[in-house]
Amino acid sequence: MLSKFILALYLALGLSSCAASLAEDQHMTRALQLMSETPLIDGHNDLPWQLRKQFNNELNKVDLNTLETTHTNIPKIKEGRLGAQFWSAYVPCETQYKDAVRQTLEQIDVVHRMCQKYPETFMFATSSQDIMEAFRMNKTASLIGVEGGHSLDSSLGTLRTMYHLGVRYLTLTHSCNTPWADNWLVDTGSEPSQHNGLSPFGKQLIVEMNRLGMLIDLAHVTVKVMNQVLDMSKAPVIFSHSSAYSICPHKRNVPDDILKRVNETRGIVMVNFYNDYVTCSKTAKLSDVADHFDHIKKVAGVGIIGFGGDYDGVTRLPEGLEDVSKVPKVVAELLKRGWTDEEVKAALGKNLLRVLGEAEKVRDSLNGTNPDDVPIPYEEVKNTCRTSYGYPNAGPAHSLSTLALLLTLALQALIALTPS
Ligand SMILES: *[C@@H]1O[C@H](CO)[C@@H](O)[C@H](O)[C@H]1NC(C)=O
Ligand SMILES: *[C@@H]1O[C@H](CO)[C@@H](O)[C@H](O)[C@H]1NC(C)=O
Ligand SMILES: *[C@@H]1O[C@H](CO)[C@@H](O)[C@H](O)[C@H]1NC(C)=O
Ligand SMILES: [Zn+2]
Repeated sequence: MLSKFILALYLALGLSSCAASLAEDQHMTRALQLMSETPLIDGHNDLPWQLRKQFNNELNKVDLNTLETTHTNIPKIKEGRLGAQFWSAYVPCETQYKDAVRQTLEQIDVVHRMCQKYPETFMFATSSQDIMEAFRMNKTASLIGVEGGHSLDSSLGTLRTMYHLGVRYLTLTHSCNTPWADNWLVDTGSEPSQHNGLSPFGKQLIVEMNRLGMLIDLAHVTVKVMNQVLDMSKAPVIFSHSSAYSICPHKRNVPDDILKRVNETRGIVMVNFYNDYVTCSKTAKLSDVADHFDHIKKVAGVGIIGFGGDYDGVTRLPEGLEDVSKVPKVVAELLKRGWTDEEVKAALGKNLLRVLGEAEKVRDSLNGTNPDDVPIPYEEVKNTCRTSYGYPNAGPAHSLSTLALLLTLALQALIALTPS
């Protein structure tokens, strides 16, 4: 009798767990189907930084088919159905006022070389149209985002040159102030505000980015900067790798009132998977990530959601989301939570395609307006690594000529004193 009961219980448990895994399989099958119809577009991946850190950008010494020391390699990309990636051209804040521009150019170069070395996998891309073309060819569209305004050395000419090299977003700051914008650490109180948001030159940059068709990325800036840019940008903005502040109150995340403004302006928040931003602790689960998707959808609508995993830029990732191959599991989880096919497709890629397309339209509508060539005031960028060529009566050139004048005067005085 007892053994019969145990047998029945055993069968029932076995069947129900079997039914659960069957449902899970169905969600995953559906997820992969949707990902074959709409490209997964991820906003931020730091593989280029790993290439510098681990190989000093010597790509010839790396095989991305077998590389195991990163979250990202070609088999993982294929398994994760990565349709398009904004590769991050990131260099640390320590390079500010030193070799930031060169190092950033080298990160841009390594992305170009990666696409050349693996043409079956990657297609270099700079537009919404390119993304769809790569997707049709079963390749990962490869775009570039520069992470941190320090990479520009406060130069509109450098911004434009980087656009010509294919850069399609600029994160206004990384984790340091620039001479024209405050970074998120100001909101934690650990750094003083230098500009109360954006300086006048910072605002010039926003206008120029709109004119170029360069997306403005508000990950890493203060809430004040977020609001200023939302007030003035003609194109929708992006948060390339940020999550929801209400779920995890970390200053890198986006507060609800900003989420609502992003919806009003048709922008996008691409959810970061870093444990510290997902749960505000060292550990996290896949379902914790899905909670951010649900929250943003509830507060601001499904039209502003995207993926911004931050793979290879972070040290801790949720259980089950350890590398880029695992992203379809998030999609399956959203389906399990009742997201419709259309909602999933919006988050996968349609929202980002809309935002990039809008930025392209703004650019085209501003065709004919002149590039802004008014440089940042010299006093705002004066430092020992910068000369003042072009700035009248400023900087080292000026002080050198003052020195020369003083020397001449001293020499003349000496000559006058010397008995002839
Ligand atoms: C892309 O992959 C799909 C599914 O495997 C296949 O049917 C299609 O022919 C491929 N397209 C190209 C251009 O290789
Ligand atoms: C988001 O914006 C759209 C379009 O402006 C609007 O229809 C919708 O109600 C907004 N959603 C939320 C949740 O505020
Ligand atoms: C922009 O202007 C140039 C020259 O005036 C013209 O050749 C080009 O077709 C325009 N592009 C768009 C997208 O309107
Ligand atoms: Zn970042």
